[in-house]
Amino acid sequence: MKGIILAGGSGTRLSPSTDSINKHLLAVYDKPMIYYPLSVLMLAGIKEIMIISTPEDQPRFTTLLGDGSALGISLHYKVQSNPDGIPEALTIAEDFIGKEHIALILGDNIFFGQGFTMLLRNAMKHHRHATIFGCRVKDPRRFGVVEFNQQQKAISIEEKPLQPKSDFAVTGLYIYDHRAVQLAKNLQPSKRGELEITDLNRLYLQQGRLDVQLLGRGFAWMDAGTHDALFEAAEFVKITQQRQGFKIACLEEIAYYLGYISRDVLINKGKEMHKNDYGAYLLDIAHRKHTNPYWDEMVTHSILGLVK
Ligand code: DAU
Repeated sequence: MKGIILAGGSGTRLSPSTDSINKHLLAVYDKPMIYYPLSVLMLAGIKEIMIISTPEDQPRFTTLLGDGSALGISLHYKVQSNPDGIPEALTIAEDFIGKEHIALILGDNIFFGQGFTMLLRNAMKHHRHATIFGCRVKDPRRFGVVEFNQQQKAISIEEKPLQPKSDFAVTGLYIYDHRAVQLAKNLQPSKRGELEITDLNRLYLQQGRLDVQLLGRGFAWMDAGTHDALFEAAEFVKITQQRQGFKIACLEEIAYYLGYISRDVLINKGKEMHKNDYGAYLLDIAHRKHTNPYWDEMVTHSILGLVK
């Protein structure tokens, strides 16, 4: 399976903060927004990832993340010239996808919860044609909304409905088979002039090929696309990290625990940033020593969300 992070768009909702910088490079508390979706793909075990952004911003993403080798992964870059819609990511990445299955994640989506990695890996293992993730929200009108029948089977899906048929929003994480590329090519723009990911999902639904995985109340899902949402996401990250002493979406930590980078690499990275809390955290991980031989494994599993 390959991964795509869509990190383009016009960013108008966050203007003027985004007038000179891409939204996904803004900080969510102590790290750039793109770290969060990238951490999701890494936790899922995906190592080949394409980042799609705007022509102006692509060099900035390359400066930040390079070719991914510092994290033991492989990063590829492509541009989306205009924000013509989320499904366009699939056609832009057509050659990259080839015949593989693909996990597409929106660059402003943040996921957090015990067991998330397990859930993700299970969803990937049992993936058939298309899998989306639903999450209960207070105001579903802002999102794609999925409706279920009494057998909890998805029966309809609508984009930003004025009268939502359920409280379940469709999150910005989608898993597709390679057929999605052809289907995306045949989509028509909606009334707001964009290709809609919900239209693609509806095609899979109509063919009986859409699986919906629900995230329960123990999961936090946020999209940081407005000033309030960005502020709330930052607050959530700050409070959770300070309470637990673990960082959310610390890419070097994930790479280290997944065995993608060595302890020496982790230490060097920590030393580079030793004057700030992020660097100190990396050094702390590298130097953790505990008398309980199971401790490291327990911590690793809990950090990686491998505990149900
Ligand atoms: O966050 C989940 C929601 O994301 C879903 O529930 C909706 O079904 C889906 O349409 C989408 O809604 P949004 O209104 O949040 O989409 P937005 O236009 O804000 O774009 C989401 C992200 O994708 C954002 O980080 C910018 C990026 N993007 C978007 C478009 C349309 C691009 O990079 N290129 C694009 O052409």
